[in-house]
Amino acid sequence: MLTRFLLLCSLSFPLIVAIPAGLVPDQLGFTGHGVFQIPDPTASFGRHDSYFPGPSEVGFPGPTATGSEAAAIATAPAAALNLDTYPIIAPSVRYSGSNPEFNPMRYWGSLTPWFSVGDAFGLPNTSPQVPDGCELDQVHLLHRHGARYRTPMPGANDSDSGLPSVIGRPHFKASGPLQFLNTWKDLLGEEILTPFGRDEPFNLGVGFRVKYGELLNRFKRHLPVFRTCSQERMVQTSLNFAAGFWGIPEYLTSYHQLYIIEAPGFNNTLAPYMNCPNAFGKHFLTGIYAAGNWSELYLAETVPRLQEYIKGYTLTVKDVSWMQETCAYETVALGYSKFCELFTEDEWRGYEYASDLSFWYGFAFGNPVAAAQGIGWVQELVARLTKERPTVFDTSMNRTLNSNKITFPLDQPMYVDATHDAVIANVITALNFTTLAANGPLPSDHIPIDQESCLRFTTPSHAHVSYVQTFRVRDITPFSANLVAQVVSCATSGRTKKMPFIRFLLNDGVVPLTGLAHCEKHNRDGLCLLEDFIKGAKERISEVDFTQDCFGRD
Ligand SMILES: *[C@@H]1O[C@H](CO)[C@@H](O)[C@H](O)[C@H]1NC(C)=O
Ligand SMILES: *[C@@H]1O[C@H](CO)[C@@H](O)[C@H](O)[C@H]1NC(C)=O
Ligand SMILES: *[C@@H]1O[C@H](CO)[C@@H](O)[C@H](O)[C@H]1NC(C)=O
Ligand SMILES: *[C@@H]1O[C@H](CO)[C@@H](O)[C@H](O)[C@H]1NC(C)=O
Ligand SMILES: *[C@@H]1O[C@H](CO)[C@@H](O)[C@H](O)[C@H]1NC(C)=O
Repeated sequence: MLTRFLLLCSLSFPLIVAIPAGLVPDQLGFTGHGVFQIPDPTASFGRHDSYFPGPSEVGFPGPTATGSEAAAIATAPAAALNLDTYPIIAPSVRYSGSNPEFNPMRYWGSLTPWFSVGDAFGLPNTSPQVPDGCELDQVHLLHRHGARYRTPMPGANDSDSGLPSVIGRPHFKASGPLQFLNTWKDLLGEEILTPFGRDEPFNLGVGFRVKYGELLNRFKRHLPVFRTCSQERMVQTSLNFAAGFWGIPEYLTSYHQLYIIEAPGFNNTLAPYMNCPNAFGKHFLTGIYAAGNWSELYLAETVPRLQEYIKGYTLTVKDVSWMQETCAYETVALGYSKFCELFTEDEWRGYEYASDLSFWYGFAFGNPVAAAQGIGWVQELVARLTKERPTVFDTSMNRTLNSNKITFPLDQPMYVDATHDAVIANVITALNFTTLAANGPLPSDHIPIDQESCLRFTTPSHAHVSYVQTFRVRDITPFSANLVAQVVSCATSGRTKKMPFIRFLLNDGVVPLTGLAHCEKHNRDGLCLLEDFIKGAKERISEVDFTQDCFGRD
């Protein structure tokens, strides 16, 4: 067999590797001038010796012609939607009669695996497909990490439940539907992605390549820069996204991954609470209390119902919320959870609403500190849209990173940033996506009526239909939530030249931009003229006072 021998400089030692003739050096990352960078998948993992030679040493890769980039978001007749959560099992619901379609997995608030939300944000006659008469110019993606284990972050704390510590003690006896508790063990880790949580960003990456890959042809000179945070699950998320988007091992040499420090006191637009002392202050606690008060109400009858099956321990509302939360965490980690079967449809709606309350008051429209935290990313978006480098650094932006074109390029046709749930909620608040807040503050004593649910949880004084709920965390920032800004050029009446527009898709649902100055005019496809959007976003930036909101008196 005809082979060529190349001297390869790997990180640790030079290797003489037989390269099959069909594989040209370019495909191996040939950079010219006698320097070869092999995207060597054997470099850092597994045993690599004569028993386990790497694929390049073994050779025989077969034909390797790759295809052209896809642009399904523009060329397919309909958008691919995400409605699947393989391989985790949708729980069954107890004591439910009315609605066989009810899927508890969609009622886990920020712990919901992401799915396409359809017209949840109020624009029923459009889709993620590039609108007719428009061409795609640019795309900006801001996405959340995939499904994770529990975090001891405020707001997601299970330490208030005494139940885990009594399970297994001699005096504790559970029976009936709770019998499994007698031998239950906590199998969950902390903070990092679950196996399913790796699948979500990987799939998001594959999907993003299929939908938007064609934009890669428009990169000039430098490789794309994608950004994430230093935290482990953020690193895992971004590398899984990259593996899906670029392929393995191509992702090793196809782009630059920026890891922005996520730690107290550091500036990071993707983790802005780290340099915003008021982020977890009084306003944040309002969300925790609202969710707590609501839980007391919606679980009032659940606690005694489940207590019947427990001897030797007195259940509290916090224990039962912990059980519901554990259903979600076990499902996304272990594929299935016995806890899920314990609850009714109404109880799941109640659980979801507790998450909505904690986000509304903790990280979104109900929190006066939320916009300040989201505004740094909005400034970056404006910089990328206008190609004007930021010069003032008085928000969560990091001057060192954003003052140069290596770590903060402004000429990319595609941007990918990874972040957290709270930050997506901050950003939609900073962007004035006020249709999501259309019906005002969320009450903590009943669920505002919506299209799907009847008024189920009311105190007598609120036993009337009030309004439609427009703020639902599962639609806004589930695991792997993704906010996409599409910049498109569209034919407009009265002009011969196409004009640039922008629109936003949140989890595939088009968001009306009518809350932002200069974008108020209703548009069927959620489009706003790009220059109007920039004008509105700049006004929004000037009306948010980061220093006061984050560092002033809370
Ligand atoms: C969460 O739990 C830890 C102990 O496990 C505790 O130190 C921390 O204060 C708790 N946070 C909140 C907001 O309750
Ligand atoms: C900005 O980022 C650089 C590079 O990661 C880091 O060294 C520096 O500490 C950061 N500054 C702040 C204020 O976060
Ligand atoms: C209910 O709200 C009040 C303040 O609004 C708070 O002090 C109290 O702790 C809340 N109850 C629960 C169970 O969270
Ligand atoms: C970090 O943010 C603070 C608050 O906005 C700002 O004063 C400081 O200059 C920033 N530092 C860097 C390196 O960007
Ligand atoms: C953002 O929304 C708020 C609340 O509706 C409004 O007062 C403000 O003027 C809006 N700002 C911009 C720039 O649209």
